[in-house]
Amino acid sequence: MPGITTKDEFNKHIKKVLIDEKAVQEAIARAGAEISREYEGKPLLLVSILKGSFVFLADLCRAITLPCEMDFMIAKSYYNSTESSGDVKILMDLEHDISEYHVIIVEDIVDTGQTLSKLIPMLKERNPLSVKVVTLLDKPSRRTAAFDPDMSLFTIPDLFVIGYGLDCGEYYRNLPYIAEYNTEEGVCSDV
Ligand code: IMP
Ligand code: MG
Repeated sequence: MPGITTKDEFNKHIKKVLIDEKAVQEAIARAGAEISREYEGKPLLLVSILKGSFVFLADLCRAITLPCEMDFMIAKSYYNSTESSGDVKILMDLEHDISEYHVIIVEDIVDTGQTLSKLIPMLKERNPLSVKVVTLLDKPSRRTAAFDPDMSLFTIPDLFVIGYGLDCGEYYRNLPYIAEYNTEEGVCSDV
C-alpha cells in the first residue's frame, strides 16, 4: 500500500546529503577500473543482492570494461536484534550455475554483517572459481557477525541512510545520492 504520496512528505525525511552524486559516481568509476584490471581474462559474474543494490549494480557494471554476466538474488535475514546469530533464507535464487565463474557479490550496505556472513558460505558450497564482495557502503560500528567486504566504496557512521537504492519503507531508492534519514519526522517500518 502506498505510504508517501506528496513531495513535502517525501522531502521532510531527507535530513542531509551524506555522499553527493558526484562522489558516488567517482568512487564507482574507480571501483570499475580496479575490477576491470583484476578480472581480465576471467569469466565474471556480478551478483546483485536485491533490492537495495540494483542502482549500484546498474552503474558499477557500466564502469566495468570487461565482458561480464549478471544475476540476481533475494536473501532475507531473520534475526532478533538482541541476538548475534540469525538465519538467512534465499527468497529468490540465481539462474546461473556459479561453478564456472568468478563471482562478485554486489551489495548496497554491510550493516550487522549477518546476511553476508551466512550467504557467502552457502554460495561457496556451489564451488565458484572465487567469490568477492563489493559494497557501496560499510557501517563497521554496527557489526555483530565476523564479516568484512573485500571492497567498500564508503565507510559511514551509525546512521540510517537512504537513497541510491537504499530504502525506508520502500521509498527513497530513487535518490541519486546518499542521505541521512530524518528519524525525528517518524521512523520507517524498516528501522
Ligand atoms: P546486514 O548487514 O545483514 O545487517 O544487512 C544489511 C541490509 O540491511 C542491507 O542490505 C539493507 O537492505 C539493510 N540496511 C542496513 N542499514 C541500512 C540503512 O542505513 N539504510 C537502509 N537499509 C539498511
Ligand atoms: Mg531495505
